[in-house]
Amino acid sequence: MAERLLSGKPVEEDAPLEGSLRPRRLPDYVGQEQIKENLKISILAAQKRKESLDHILLYGPPGLGKTTLANIIAAEMGVNIKVTSGPAVERPGDMAAILTNLRAHDILFIDEIHRLSRVVEEVLYPAMEDFFLSWVMGKGLGARNITLKVPPFTLIGATTRFAMVSAPLRNRFGAIYRLDFYDEAAIQVLLRRSASILQVEVQQEGLEEIARRSRGTPRVANRLLKRVRDYAQVTADGVVTGDLAREALAKLQIDPAGLDDVDHKVLNTIVQKFQGGPVGLETIAASISEEPDTVMDVYEPFLLQLGLLERTPRGRVATRRAYEHLGLPYKDKQGTAQGALWSTDDDATAGE
Ligand SMILES: Nc1ncnc2c1ncn2[C@@H]1O[C@H](COP(=O)(O)OP(=O)(O)OP(=O)(O)O)[C@@H](O)[C@H]1O
Ligand SMILES: [Mg+2]
Repeated sequence: MAERLLSGKPVEEDAPLEGSLRPRRLPDYVGQEQIKENLKISILAAQKRKESLDHILLYGPPGLGKTTLANIIAAEMGVNIKVTSGPAVERPGDMAAILTNLRAHDILFIDEIHRLSRVVEEVLYPAMEDFFLSWVMGKGLGARNITLKVPPFTLIGATTRFAMVSAPLRNRFGAIYRLDFYDEAAIQVLLRRSASILQVEVQQEGLEEIARRSRGTPRVANRLLKRVRDYAQVTADGVVTGDLAREALAKLQIDPAGLDDVDHKVLNTIVQKFQGGPVGLETIAASISEEPDTVMDVYEPFLLQLGLLERTPRGRVATRRAYEHLGLPYKDKQGTAQGALWSTDDDATAGE
């Protein structure tokens, strides 16, 4: 249960919520101020020149608002958005069909763009650069090279794995934005908006309690709000007070830092089974019976963000703060856990 609750990845119970809570226009999109500033300027400039917007790559952990932002960009530009995803486009011909069916200035949104195959990507390169397609149809003597114009369009790519986007594809984006975890103040604003849409009365202290445990992730914040609302309606008069929020969240086994039992398992494994690390991601995943991808996408980014975990060339290391969080004595291992010996990968979402 906890995994579903706190992972930024979408789950079934989000579906009815996400539609109504998803902001439609830029002013309703909370936080990410730097990105919004830059986008506003690009959008105004493109509109002034009556051109398509530059291609945009959005990356960051699940649930931070990539899909939402892509839709908002389309709304602000006043253009259509076509949505597909990396694994859905199997053959070069599929990509060619999508591109030739676009209308001028449309946005093509490709989710999980790191999962496009190389041959499909190659159809995109000239389309992104010069708005034409070129591919070989048929085989052997009958093979023909086909060239086709496509209307000027904007590609918006989204990925949780920046490092897995190939360099040639990456280089063809005019703007690359990394979405960061939201600070608590931003999550509070977001929760206040969601609470008013859901018509649930939340007191400031209740709001703070939920925000603190939301892992800086809008999708998690909305999910927790909904759970706490249910709890308030069933056990009390429906008003979310500070005490009620604390009680509800404790029942959901979410600790005050927003860690659930899987996060605890990750940290405990490193600390207790592997003396604090370094230990490889695969090994950690195997010890807690999770997929390495899930650990990397869902758990690790937030633990890194909180400074509980560090990535080193030889594997993951639990920090002093992790020991403190678990209430365990910290044993310094002469520079193995921290210090200049180790260079950490500063891109929490990058691949292995
Ligand atoms: N900046 C924001 N302001 C308000 N609500 C937001 C914001 N970002 C995201 N949300 C809410 O969080 C939900 C999840 O966002 P979204 O689906 O855009 O995430 P994502 O980054 O595309 O995730 P994934 O990697 O799983 O595709 C949305 O339905 C929306 O309600
Ligand atoms: Mg998405």
